[in-house]
Amino acid sequence: MAQIDPRGRMELIEAGEKPGTGVCVDFCRLDVRGVATQPLVRACGPRGRLIDATAGLGGDAWILAAAGFAVTCIERSTPVATVLDDGISRALNDDSLRKIAQRIGLIVGSSRDLLMTTVPPDARPTSTVYLDPMYPPKEGSALAPKSIRLVRAAVGDDHDANILLESARGAGFGRVVVKRPLSAAPLSPGVHHAVEGKLARFDVYQDARV
Ligand SMILES: C[S@@+](CC[C@H](N)C(=O)[O-])C[C@H]1O[C@@H](n2cnc3c(N)ncnc32)[C@H](O)[C@@H]1O
Repeated sequence: MAQIDPRGRMELIEAGEKPGTGVCVDFCRLDVRGVATQPLVRACGPRGRLIDATAGLGGDAWILAAAGFAVTCIERSTPVATVLDDGISRALNDDSLRKIAQRIGLIVGSSRDLLMTTVPPDARPTSTVYLDPMYPPKEGSALAPKSIRLVRAAVGDDHDANILLESARGAGFGRVVVKRPLSAAPLSPGVHHAVEGKLARFDVYQDARV
């Protein structure tokens, strides 16, 4: 659930937890120096329009906006979107963050419905879709960071991620990028190339018609 914390920010928190112990979106905490060389940014290719179709708490969207992409975030969980929206609003009121925040928009709803209506067909070949679906926790692995645990508690696992990937690929988007755990198989066959980071891999699907 989302609620206001003692400092007036929206936080994602589990019911019954003490106010102020949840997670809020604070973009000033993110270091965006040298973003252009980050695997995520390299995988997303030439700067332009980008749809972050699984926005979550917007960490990746912020990096991509800092790198120069015009980012449209889509998030289907209302509590998660509420907390993200609050973080974007506070960033817009902060002189040091405004320039990046102005490159981010947020739509609440399912990307499976909104991807096609948000980007007209003629703009799709030059647009990138980015997907970072929630994947099941690995058994026996270290405890995930609190933000991931709270988002998981709010949204569960994204079992329909492959359907979203296939509809994005079939709709004529020039590039679709999927974040995967390093050791996981691609979400779908047909990866054009992958960019590996220390903690994740970014599988790039390119439309052969573009
Ligand atoms: C792993 S989190 C994304 C984390 C994000 N990349 C970040 O940096 O904070 C996945 C998010 O995608 C959202 N999501 C999954 N499928 C979606 C869909 N079809 N439409 C909109 N949001 C979706 C989930 O609700 C969840 O908040």
